[in-house]
Amino acid sequence: MAGAAPAATASDPATAAADGDTLRATAAALFGTIPERVEELRGKPLSAEQVELGHMLFFDPRLSRSHLITCNTCHSVGTGGADNVPTSIGHGWQRGPRNSPTVLNAVFNGAQFWDGRAADLAEQAKGPVQASVEMNSTPELVERTLRSIPEYVERFGRAFPGEAEPVNFDNMALALEAFEATLVTPGSRFDRWVLGEDDALDATERRGLELFVSSGCASCHNGRNFGGQAYFPFGVIERPGAEILPPGDKGRFEVTATASDEYVFRAAPLRNVELTAPYFHSGQVWDLEQAVAIMGSAQLGREIDDDEARAIAAFLRTLTGRQPRVEYPVLPPSTADTPRPE
Ligand code: HEM
Ligand code: HEM
Repeated sequence: MAGAAPAATASDPATAAADGDTLRATAAALFGTIPERVEELRGKPLSAEQVELGHMLFFDPRLSRSHLITCNTCHSVGTGGADNVPTSIGHGWQRGPRNSPTVLNAVFNGAQFWDGRAADLAEQAKGPVQASVEMNSTPELVERTLRSIPEYVERFGRAFPGEAEPVNFDNMALALEAFEATLVTPGSRFDRWVLGEDDALDATERRGLELFVSSGCASCHNGRNFGGQAYFPFGVIERPGAEILPPGDKGRFEVTATASDEYVFRAAPLRNVELTAPYFHSGQVWDLEQAVAIMGSAQLGREIDDDEARAIAAFLRTLTGRQPRVEYPVLPPSTADTPRPE
């Protein structure tokens, strides 16, 4: 018919815009964005006193037996909240069995650790302080240390008002959790694009996003953290080699003792993944494109070619958000009663 608009083609800008809108709506529904700040934890407003105390504790080496190791040693807020070594090094230079996941946005994870064995950040924080290959302390030693430092006694009192003995191990964990809830990274290019800024992603990155969704990555890596919510066998289709999936670490099996949980791990959260190499719980893969290709064969039974891996990795790099600016705290001095480093 004369004067009718030509049929739209894939190269048509109008169609491209419509496709962009569909992809954006899909992305918004599957993933979502990182909020500017977390206002509450377990339904209670975040306490400024607890955040400030947790900030100090996160950087206080006296939570470790050696007085050398802090949370920040393995979760450096200057390097994406992780330590960028294959598996973490802790007390007495011992090498632990797993790679350190980032603390950034960890507050949005459904459960903590590669195997999800801690329900939340407060439960989680008691682990590393006691782990012999991490900080190698005990609740009793930590409490004795904190009670020997008058400024901590005063700060715990203010952070946990009305409690008979506020300086205790559980409250240490709650304060660390409150501080960690401030370690969020809004404003990534992906988030800006979802919120309507068309130019925030280029064509390759949008293709990477489209591939991430259409190939099936998003069936495991979803929610605002692109993972961190549910568990899957590492090697649903094809188990990676022993170097990447060491046979000694059976993942959730150690937590549930259920045969079907052998080699099951939490789908890793992918926010800021550009900053947190090396990858996987074994920390054996340094290259993001390679990690993407391994996921293709191990989880999807799909050969991801170099060009696709580059596009997906380019997209994943747009998940890097605004990094928190954390001031190094001035810590209160020890006293004659403070236990000495061992
Ligand atoms: C896991 C916080 C100390 C190494 C985690 C996670 C958080 C966290 C929130 C879970 C993140 C996730 O699953 O996505 C802390 C805090 C610390 C601390 C608050 C201080 C009290 C350390 C230290 C080391 C370390 C000193 C290294 C020596 C690790 C490792 C994991 C982990 C290897 C993974 C363990 C597993 O999945 O089994 N930490 N961390 N952390 N952290 Fe820490
Ligand atoms: C880990 C990307 C598909 C489950 C990872 C990591 C990346 C990634 C980069 C490492 C993150 C880190 O170490 O911090 C992708 C991409 C996919 C995809 C691009 C699509 C091609 C899937 C699927 C599943 C899945 C379909 C579930 C069936 C997991 C699990 C881990 C993981 C369980 C943790 C593995 C470990 O224990 O080290 N993914 N993934 N992924 N992904 Fe995927």
